[in-house]
Amino acid sequence: MASLNRRRFLKWTLGGFAALSTAAIAGGVGISLIPDVPAAANAPWRTAGQGRNPRERALSYAALAPNPHNLQSWLIELIGDDRMRLYVDRRRLLPETDPVNRQIVIGQGCFIETLALAAGLEGYRAEVTLFPEGAFATNGVDHRPVAEVRLIAGGQADPLAHAITQRRSVKEPFDVTKIPSNGQLRALTALSTADARLAATASPDRVKRLRDLLYVGMEIETRLPRTFLESVKLMRIGAEEITRHRDGIDLGGGMMEVLGRTGIVTREALADPTSSSFQTGLDRYRAMTEATPALIWLTTPGNRREDQIAAGRAYQRLALSVAQAGLSLHPMSQLLQEYPEMAEAQRQLMAELEVHAPERVQMLARIGYGPTTSPAPRRDPASLIVAGPKLSMAF
Ligand SMILES: Cc1cc2nc3c(=O)[nH]c(=O)nc-3n(C[C@H](O)[C@H](O)[C@H](O)COP(=O)(O)O)c2cc1C
Repeated sequence: MASLNRRRFLKWTLGGFAALSTAAIAGGVGISLIPDVPAAANAPWRTAGQGRNPRERALSYAALAPNPHNLQSWLIELIGDDRMRLYVDRRRLLPETDPVNRQIVIGQGCFIETLALAAGLEGYRAEVTLFPEGAFATNGVDHRPVAEVRLIAGGQADPLAHAITQRRSVKEPFDVTKIPSNGQLRALTALSTADARLAATASPDRVKRLRDLLYVGMEIETRLPRTFLESVKLMRIGAEEITRHRDGIDLGGGMMEVLGRTGIVTREALADPTSSSFQTGLDRYRAMTEATPALIWLTTPGNRREDQIAAGRAYQRLALSVAQAGLSLHPMSQLLQEYPEMAEAQRQLMAELEVHAPERVQMLARIGYGPTTSPAPRRDPASLIVAGPKLSMAF
């Protein structure tokens, strides 16, 4: 379909969605009842804590960690009864938007923190040895382990562990009339450590400048074909694709189901800058960034691989604390990414946040009160476990 026709058709369809949906229900499809994420795609959130032994049970929670583009780039090698090694699944990287794999390593840190917290639930302590065969180079990850983890009896439960299954990345507009209080933001930034510093703002002028910048970052990424296509390839449109992959960017729910099934929203349309789907995506980001009452960011003293792991661990502790406080959190990483077209916007962000090298902003997130959302898809935690020989074959 020519793009102009498609545009008209989409406009008509969006306008006529209620009619279509009514027709679908009358036809017995019940499309308006389709959840954003089908139950089969996010089952691991409900089975977390099940497993044959403490290590399996801890891994079932760790698989719920936040991670870039929900790629879940984790591989686990079990060693003996009480140890495991964590590797990066190098088939699941983001070469365009995360060219040095900084975000992928942060996602490894999120996994390690979740594993350690889950071990505590059963009275175990996780002894973590980072990079037992040496750290990755600054320009990319390799086959060596990220960490070796041993579960040792005698750990204590951290109350944060109880929020693992409650935490969400809330990729929606927040209520702009409900601003997190200074006391709430202070309690969260008090989670700062020497390894990872947190700062936040709800000051209206500063928040406005930052959310304008967030949109600039999103527009740069979206209008640059090579970076946007990387995301488009990871978009899962409708229940069937979401359930088949259980990863990536899930575009589900009744409206998407109709638009996907009728061939109106396709990867091709989403990637076409002249299409309504493309413009609708940008408009949605504009509405979302504008509905941001406060922002929080996390910096590390440097940008070594160990700093990135520390950032991931601290980010997951922040996200769990946010969930416990009844607030919503949504990371937006575009401005932090390392490709030339983003450099100027990133420089402006650093000036606005008053962060100077070698200190590095690792995470920047919207914070406020958002709607309740479904847990994101997750693959079966057992699929992360690979045997030694199979592990080397995977690459
Ligand atoms: C390092 C890192 C960077 C992220 N950047 C973004 C981002 O730019 N935009 C976004 O919507 N979510 C971002 N996220 C959140 C992930 O998309 C999210 O964790 C993943 O989809 C799984 O969803 P969940 O956190 O609700 O379990 C990021 C997460 C991590 C760990």
